[in-house]
Amino acid sequence: MSTTNPVYIITGGAGFIGSNLVARLQRDEPDARLYVVDDFSTGSYANIVEACERHNAGPFRGTIMPDSITDLNWQPAIMGLAPKAVYHLAAITNTLEFDEKKMVAVNTEPFIDILDACIESEIPLVYASSGATYGTPPQAQQEIPFPTSAAGNPSNVYGFSKWLMDVEANRAFEQSMIESGKKPHVVGLRYFNVFGPGESRKGKMASMIYHLTNQMLAGQNPRIFEHGQHQRDQIHVDDVVSCTLAAANPSANPGIYNLGTGTTTTFNDIVSAINQALGRSMDPEYIPMPEEMVSSYQHYTCADMSETKEGLHWTPTLDTAQAIRKYAAELAENHQNQHSTVTQ
Ligand SMILES: NC(=O)c1ccc[n+]([C@@H]2O[C@H](COP(=O)([O-])OP(=O)(O)OC[C@H]3O[C@@H](n4cnc5c(N)ncnc54)[C@H](O)[C@@H]3O)[C@@H](O)[C@H]2O)c1
Repeated sequence: MSTTNPVYIITGGAGFIGSNLVARLQRDEPDARLYVVDDFSTGSYANIVEACERHNAGPFRGTIMPDSITDLNWQPAIMGLAPKAVYHLAAITNTLEFDEKKMVAVNTEPFIDILDACIESEIPLVYASSGATYGTPPQAQQEIPFPTSAAGNPSNVYGFSKWLMDVEANRAFEQSMIESGKKPHVVGLRYFNVFGPGESRKGKMASMIYHLTNQMLAGQNPRIFEHGQHQRDQIHVDDVVSCTLAAANPSANPGIYNLGTGTTTTFNDIVSAINQALGRSMDPEYIPMPEEMVSSYQHYTCADMSETKEGLHWTPTLDTAQAIRKYAAELAENHQNQHSTVTQ
């Protein structure tokens, strides 16, 4: 391999979204050298192996750095590897983690070092922010898409740790504008609810689409909060990866953007789509929302995608209901294969 082969650093590359990103990079740029930084706290080698297979990328050929993002010395690492881009996805993704010090120490602090190092070396940085930075903005009451300016009142420390990343990125933009009159190539993407292949090892944190499909495949009625009318912006992981890759293109404008579909899907709609995919007609079992969740529950989320279209020249390609049906059918096929292997 010549020294001119492009290098990419992907943190969190053994996770759900990261492994899909790694596989797409390897497939689309077979000569690229991929460095995956992941401590395997929620990720797994198996996510990478399966994603490479799903995306026809061939067996994984990159380098794994099994380090915590909190331990790496980012300045020399980034200067030494001189990547074409850094994709920073590693994070504590358990939204029910309430250790605030730990959340900020992992999700926010190393990001500041990565940000500084990328700016210093003029290397494009794309990082995963979250729809959780919004909490319940006024737009949720009005049931209209969230403009990026509405973020900043997160309802949990996970959302807060992601909001702090956006604060640091904005500070860096302001600083660079003062110093050089232009923004560094840094793009923050506020992912909304992501679903799709590769999330099976996320346990409770896997998407509702994954859990509801598995309940129904196990012959149980899908359990959702009364009365299934909460709405979320659900986006397939393939679209998330496409936009994340597009954000590193030279034509992308630096900034912080929403990454959703710009549409909402109710939990009742999800159950209908899964029923269609599985050829069933199972009724939802409506359960009351626990008292402690009522005040912070996001009953409506929807990404305003106008800035994303303008700034990153990217729009979602997949119809949500269709993508849910396709994914539920894939889960059913895996379920069937596992079942027949066990009973053989
Ligand atoms: N999945 C979603 O719906 C969603 C929504 C909004 C934002 N995001 C963000 O997208 C990114 C990827 O999420 P995901 O759904 O793939 O979750 P995931 O848990 O599958 O992936 C996170 C990866 O980061 C790794 N990691 C965690 N702490 C680390 C550390 N200290 N050092 C090195 N590696 C570490 C984990 O092992 C895992 O492989 C995260 O930043 C997450 O906050 C995801």
